[in-house]
Amino acid sequence: MKVVHTIEALQEELKGKKNIALVPTMGNLHEGHLHLMQEAGKYGDTVVASIFVNRLQFGPNEDFDQYPRTLEEDCKKLEEQGVVDYVFAPSEKDMYPQPQTFRVKPDPKLADILEGFYRPGFFEGVCTVVMKLFCIVRPDVAVFGKKDYQQLTIIKEMVRQFGMPIRIIPAELQRNQETGLALSSRNRYLSAQELQDATLLYKTVKGVKDALEAETADPEVLEERAMKMLDGHGWIPDYVAVVRRSDLLAPTKDDLINKTPLVVLAAAKIGTTRLIDNVEVF
Ligand code: PAJ
Repeated sequence: MKVVHTIEALQEELKGKKNIALVPTMGNLHEGHLHLMQEAGKYGDTVVASIFVNRLQFGPNEDFDQYPRTLEEDCKKLEEQGVVDYVFAPSEKDMYPQPQTFRVKPDPKLADILEGFYRPGFFEGVCTVVMKLFCIVRPDVAVFGKKDYQQLTIIKEMVRQFGMPIRIIPAELQRNQETGLALSSRNRYLSAQELQDATLLYKTVKGVKDALEAETADPEVLEERAMKMLDGHGWIPDYVAVVRRSDLLAPTKDDLINKTPLVVLAAAKIGTTRLIDNVEVF
C-alpha cells in the first residue's frame, strides 16, 4: 500500500491501471469504512481510498476544525486489512490550490431537503469534492455507504445526469453489533453515557420501520411519535422522515399499499453531537 499526497503523484501511479475502485472518505476510519474498502476490492483491481477532510462541506458553525484527523492510525488499519493499494491523502493546498470557485450545485429537490435543509450548502460541498476526486482518480467504480443515505442518492443522480462512466456501489450501513449504534467518526465526540444513550436513535428508526411493515400506523403519525420519543429522552431531533428510496419524497397511500421501497431517515443531536441514522423499509 502506498500513501500519496499530491494529485500529480497519484496520477503518475495510476497510469495504465485498469478497473480502479475509489472509496472517498474523510478519515478517522472505523469498521464501516473498512467494509467499503472490502466492497471496493470485490469490484476493482486497483483500490484507491481517499482521505480528505473537505472544508467545502462544513458549515460555519460545524466541526471542521475539531474533526478527527488520524492519518497514521488510518493507514495502519488499511495496511492491516490489505485491500487498499493507494491512499490518497492530499493537503488542502494540494486539493484546492486555488479557491474552488467552480462548484457542483445539486438539484435542490434532492439536496435542499432533510440533511440539506439543516446543513445548507452541505451537498454542494460534497458533490464538488466528489466530482473533483472522480476527475483526479478516474475510477471505474466508486463505493459509498448507506449510512449517508441522501449523499448516496445524490451522488448516484449526479453520475447519472452527467453521464459519468462510473458505477456507484452502495455499501450496507455497519453498526455496533451489540448496541446497533451506527458506526461514525463523530461517535468519538460522545461521552460514555452518551454512547449508551445514542442507541435510542437506531431503536427509534427501527421502531418506525417495524410499525410500517406491520401496517399499524401512517407515516406522519409515526414520524411525530418518533420525534417526541427522542425529544422526551433529551435529544434535539432535526427530523425523522419516512421517504421513498427513489426520490426521498414522502410516500403516497399507493406507495404504502404497493410496498414501494422506503427508508426511514433521522438526524438528532445528543449533547453537542449531531448523529444520523436510517433503516430501509420493505
Ligand atoms: P465519511 O463520513 O468519512 O464517510 C466515507 C464513506 O463511508 C461514506 O460513503 C459513508 O457513507 C461511509 N460510511 C461511514 N460510516 C459508515 C457506516 N457505519 N456504515 C457504512 N458506511 C459508512 O461521507 C463522507 O466521508 C464525505 O461526505 C465524502 C463522501 C468523503 C466527501 O467528502
